[in-house]
Amino acid sequence: MSQAHLAYKHRVNLGSYYTPLEIVDTAWEMIAPYLRSQTTVIDSACGYGDFLKECGQAITIGCDIDETAIDVAKKNNDNKKVRFFQTNALGDVSRAKFGIPQQSDVIVVGNPPYNDKTSLIRHNIKDVDFDIDEDLACRDLGISFLRSYNKLEADVICVLHPLSYLIKPTNFRCLKEFTTNYRLIDALLISSGKFPESAKHTPFPIVLALYQRDTQGMAYNFIHSFRFRIAGKDNKKRAAPIKPQRDARSIEDFCLADFDYITGYIDKYPKKNQPTYNDSLFFWTMRDINALKRNRTFVENYSANTIVLDKGKLDYYAYVDVFKRNLHRLPFYFGNCDVLIDDNLFRQYKPSFISDAVSHHPFLKEHFQMKLIEKQQAASGLDTYFKLLFGEHHL
Ligand SMILES: C[S@@+](CC[C@H](N)C(=O)[O-])C[C@H]1O[C@@H](n2cnc3c(N)ncnc32)[C@H](O)[C@@H]1O
Repeated sequence: MSQAHLAYKHRVNLGSYYTPLEIVDTAWEMIAPYLRSQTTVIDSACGYGDFLKECGQAITIGCDIDETAIDVAKKNNDNKKVRFFQTNALGDVSRAKFGIPQQSDVIVVGNPPYNDKTSLIRHNIKDVDFDIDEDLACRDLGISFLRSYNKLEADVICVLHPLSYLIKPTNFRCLKEFTTNYRLIDALLISSGKFPESAKHTPFPIVLALYQRDTQGMAYNFIHSFRFRIAGKDNKKRAAPIKPQRDARSIEDFCLADFDYITGYIDKYPKKNQPTYNDSLFFWTMRDINALKRNRTFVENYSANTIVLDKGKLDYYAYVDVFKRNLHRLPFYFGNCDVLIDDNLFRQYKPSFISDAVSHHPFLKEHFQMKLIEKQQAASGLDTYFKLLFGEHHL
């Protein structure tokens, strides 16, 4: 096991989940076209130094806050000309700190820690005890690292980070300085399940992202229509699509703009000061698809996490309830997306959805005037709907 020297608590605090070597190699393939004899390559969270290679660049730098990791990295790389720093990469960040010449091209490579300091999961053991420059500070360490690369004025960046940094608008806004100066030029989606140590929960999508410094920067719309490559896609066995592919869609990639989302139809989050009545119906907050996997849909009682649903839109809440039972059809890279929908198709298959929702939540029956259909017929309708909706992504 890698990062074996760290106890569980420190592994979580430092975000120490070392990278499988085949992913390291892919990162190097991605940066190869940008390497010059004058380039400085730096991994400022290098762990045992697996990302440090010599491929003709002038300077190679490895940095980590973890003393033992740096000792191992030095042993592992003693045949290479690597400059090592055992220091906090997020404090007093500048090129001078690492002795990087101002005129040098800089490529950042690696897998910085992603550690959401505020998330509930494993909350009790998280504490981060190093100083972070004020302009880099953020609730998520990985976002601080991306900001630090901007401070180093890196020309090219090839790092792993959660896909949610790019596709969740609130995270994307936290990256403002970064996205003003960098543009995504290539991106490969990898399941967190590939990291043996972090696969205990629902796998989430990680992106191996290649950014280039660019005065155009990138707006959220650019990400919305970006085509992300999918790692190992052709190795997976998938159902044959039952409709011809849309021209713009390729089997090899994933693009947010290929789909419509439930957020256009119903509220995901509770409204402030929502009134409740004796006959109110409640629905659990919908953060994203992975949260839907863990959470309930219709709930009996009101709480801070429940939406008081608009009964005029009950169809769409029933839709989400059915969608939850069909999540096994979706690959990992949809984990941080909102619930997908094709509204025209949904209208066509509505009896299947309502009948399925009522069979799981009999109290819903009185709210629908529609004639319900047999279980088998509903199942077959849902099967067709989801195959059409997910197309080549359907598992
Ligand atoms: C995901 S691991 C990556 C290690 C290595 N690059 C790899 O992929 O195999 C993240 C590393 O970041 C280091 N780290 C965490 N906080 C840091 C900080 N503030 N400054 C420098 N390194 C830090 C951890 O010690 C850990 O080795």
